[in-house]
Amino acid sequence: MLATLWLLSLSLPTSWAQILVSCAYKSLCQQALLSGNDVVLQCDHLKARWYFSSILGEDVLLLSSVPNIKKLPGGSLQLTNPQPSQTGLYHCEDNDSALVVEYEIDFQDVTTLHITHKGLGQKPLQNETLSLGGKELIFTHWDPWQDCNCCGEPGEHKRLGYCYIEEPLEKPMPCWLYLQEEKVQYRRMWPEMQVEACLIPCDHIK
Ligand SMILES: *[C@@H]1O[C@H](CO)[C@@H](O)[C@H](O)[C@H]1NC(C)=O
Ligand SMILES: *[C@@H]1O[C@H](CO)[C@@H](O)[C@H](O)[C@H]1NC(C)=O
Repeated sequence: MLATLWLLSLSLPTSWAQILVSCAYKSLCQQALLSGNDVVLQCDHLKARWYFSSILGEDVLLLSSVPNIKKLPGGSLQLTNPQPSQTGLYHCEDNDSALVVEYEIDFQDVTTLHITHKGLGQKPLQNETLSLGGKELIFTHWDPWQDCNCCGEPGEHKRLGYCYIEEPLEKPMPCWLYLQEEKVQYRRMWPEMQVEACLIPCDHIK
């Protein structure tokens, strides 16, 4: 029980610094992120105009009236404490209404984070096939391991993983972007965090 409480403390939104997401000029990039963690979507255009369309099929709206979203002076968009409901398409255009960059962001719910510790023999979520009749695979797409939290003595490091769905021969997609407005919920649709012991010598740091 103690171990569980301690692990949960790792999942506080403050554990991660603000994340910068960028994408090539005139391109569309897809990304899964954790809700509750501040993010900046890059758009280098001084007169950038941003539009958002939700995966729930709501109307496109000009992003000036949303309280937790701010346009930075250089044109990029800052989202403070983004919510799963803000999953969708972020479109940045220039003053001539030409596309600069687009992001499809899946804010996966940090409150459902599935945390496992390797040293305690806990296993991450298993791959599963969807019951939609197709051959879609639902799995966790892992980020690289983060740095060990100390050196010269046993420490721990962690990695984050996001729910993805893959069809044979297709590029995997973040779960909520894949399912869009389909109201289905799968038990397996959680982001994950895995914790593991690590031991690194101090002279390897810096
Ligand atoms: C957009 O900005 C560019 C450069 O600042 C300018 O040359 C162009 O006339 C502007 N277009 C409109 C429609 O305002
Ligand atoms: C789960 O599926 C992913 C994506 O196809 C694959 O990379 C991974 O190796 C699979 N994991 C297991 C345990 O089969």
